[in-house]
Amino acid sequence: METKVISVLQDYNTAAREGAKIIRSGGLVAFPTETVYGLGADGLDGAAVDRIFEAKGRPNDNPLILHVAEKEAAFRLWVAEPPRARALMDTFWPGPLTLIYYRSDMVPDEVTAGLDTVAVRMPDNQAARALIAASGVPIAAPSANLSGKPSPTTAAHVLQDMEGRIPLILDGGPCRYGVESTVLSLVGTPTILRPGAVTKEMLAAVLGEVALAPSILAPLGAGEKAASPGMKYKHYAPNAQVFVVVGEAQAAAARLSALYDQFAAAGKRPYIAATAEAMPFYGPRRCALLGTRRDPTTLCSRLFSLLRELDQEADVILSEGIGTEGTGLAFMNRLLRSAGFRVEYL
Ligand code: TXA
Ligand code: MG
Repeated sequence: METKVISVLQDYNTAAREGAKIIRSGGLVAFPTETVYGLGADGLDGAAVDRIFEAKGRPNDNPLILHVAEKEAAFRLWVAEPPRARALMDTFWPGPLTLIYYRSDMVPDEVTAGLDTVAVRMPDNQAARALIAASGVPIAAPSANLSGKPSPTTAAHVLQDMEGRIPLILDGGPCRYGVESTVLSLVGTPTILRPGAVTKEMLAAVLGEVALAPSILAPLGAGEKAASPGMKYKHYAPNAQVFVVVGEAQAAAARLSALYDQFAAAGKRPYIAATAEAMPFYGPRRCALLGTRRDPTTLCSRLFSLLRELDQEADVILSEGIGTEGTGLAFMNRLLRSAGFRVEYL
């Protein structure tokens, strides 16, 4: 199958109409959102949704998010209005917040992987919403990467993983946040299942209390059940092995430099993912700049594309970790998963 790439930057309505034709006939279209690129299919058509799992090589017990173009469409997908949903939607939609609640009969089993709940979000990207509106259905979409790989934040990343597997990629340029949406369950105590650009602090300002799923910063224990099925799979992993050191800039740089020298002496090709604060301490070692520790949102937006870039140059990626305040939590969640939780705290 030939994979066509069309830009949405000039005229997103024409691109959306072309995409919608494919969605309505049961096919797959990759599209930009403000978080990462999505791989979309008609979210009310189980057979179309199955094609997503096939194209990604994704285990089909991992449920998908339904994307809507307007708030009211979300309420048809849930069995009833989720507690606190209106306030959350008024504050954060359109935007990088996914809400989970009991599903209505409209939602096929293929979307929810048999769960009695469904995840819904309204993306803050005009081309994405135009595609959904022109399709006339909610669009089921995971990130448009091969299962286990870093999520795509440019159309070139999507092409790298999906060329020959899907007919169309809508190119909207680099994604603003570069990290997937915050996933919040509204069943029982509101609980963050996956952190994102809408932070725990921002949610607490609307909800009062918010819980964090334990698997956000630690691997699941043996026999432990994942709150979100996606948490149990290997994730965001480049081919290179990733190691993380969390500590103050100069101390972290000293430890990472020592690791670098050990790997280099063993004939490996290491590369350091550094913050601006630690950069002066690495000497002549090969380093890529993630951004400053003062701005974890930028670190998030750089992480996946940097992992893909360094994968071309290195077989070991040595990265600094940071604190988990604000969007630091999303950064550390993705980084630790890409490292398979190989981390040292100084
Ligand atoms: O920003 C995003 O959310 C991107 C863009 C394309 O919208 N999408 C995305 O989808 O990241 P995906 O499939 O890669 O991640 C969805 C996450 C998975 O961890 C999945 O297990 C979880 O949401 N999830 C979906 N439905 C769920 C449900 N009913 N209960 C618990 N977790 C659910
Ligand atoms: Mg994903």
